[in-house]
Amino acid sequence: MLDQITSTIEARVAPLRKIFLKNSAYRHFEQVFTELLERRSSEIADGVTREARCVALIGGSGSGKTSAVRHLLAHHPRLVLGGPETERLDVVSLAVPTPATLKFVGQTTLSALGFPLRRERTAQTIWEMVKGHLQARRTLFLHYDEAQDLALHQSPRELKSVVNTLKSLLQHQAWPVGLILTGTPELKGIINHDVQLARRVFPIEFPRLNAALDSERVLSLLSHYAAASGLELRSDVIQRDLVARLIHAARREFGLLIEMTIATIEGTIRDRRTDVEIADFARMFRKRSGCIDGLNPFIADDFERIDVSRLLYGGEND
Ligand SMILES: Nc1ncnc2c1ncn2[C@@H]1O[C@H](COP(=O)(O)OP(=O)(O)OP(=O)(O)O)[C@@H](O)[C@H]1O
Ligand SMILES: [Mg+2]
Repeated sequence: MLDQITSTIEARVAPLRKIFLKNSAYRHFEQVFTELLERRSSEIADGVTREARCVALIGGSGSGKTSAVRHLLAHHPRLVLGGPETERLDVVSLAVPTPATLKFVGQTTLSALGFPLRRERTAQTIWEMVKGHLQARRTLFLHYDEAQDLALHQSPRELKSVVNTLKSLLQHQAWPVGLILTGTPELKGIINHDVQLARRVFPIEFPRLNAALDSERVLSLLSHYAAASGLELRSDVIQRDLVARLIHAARREFGLLIEMTIATIEGTIRDRRTDVEIADFARMFRKRSGCIDGLNPFIADDFERIDVSRLLYGGEND
């Protein structure tokens, strides 16, 4: 019985998780990526090799970087991403492993290209194999997610060797491969540290939400999700005050705000009500953070002073 209720709730929530909203950062990314793809495709058709370029998507945790790349790759009409009938793999996508040593990044990239990790080889041999396989599979772009981790637990020398190797992919004589790097703002430091890399990068920032500028957009987002789940928003929800609280609760990150909206709606559905109330937002936040009501931005008067990134927060000296 309980299983049945859970699966009914999941059946109503699952379609919400499938919605992808295109914001201006996504459209910008889509445009830059398409231009680079077209340029590279026409160079291949003309038998010309020019240096490839790098797109860097930078935004806070929960801004929506990983989702943006996944959506673009899954829906781009021109891309071939492997399959039973073709070796072609236009884009290879992977997360930077830690520690991001030259050898480990190379092994992980090789594995993403469909070849097992080879521990016995040197970093140089592994990267030669990576370059060979990129060409064999006609790969046009390599995507590294969590690219800020290139600098994690890393000596400056090791970081430099990884960055140089990534640059060498862009400049490869026979088969240049473009890069997509997604990461938190620390990625800017890594890119800016290397003038040659910085010169080849198209940076795209996922901006944080701003209660003064984005209220209308967030209100229509809430209506969109409520309508998609067959619920109504109570009149006290459709207010700038609630929107400002939600933006604050979501650390001003677009993706996190959507995640919280879906979790709130799930609570309403679980309660078998048809109207989303402010109390549903408060409950969602309490469940996620474990905080007392005085530190819940949907309850406290002076919500802007609350540090929403702290879990199980009970007060000043916590
Ligand atoms: N454009 C979007 N439309 C709908 N949902 C989105 C969108 N972007 C992000 N989300 C949702 O927001 C949440 C966070 O997104 P995502 O994991 O892509 O963020 P991120 O920037 O990669 O964060 P992190 O740096 O922590 O990896 C996910 O639950 C995702 O489904
Ligand atoms: Mg991510």
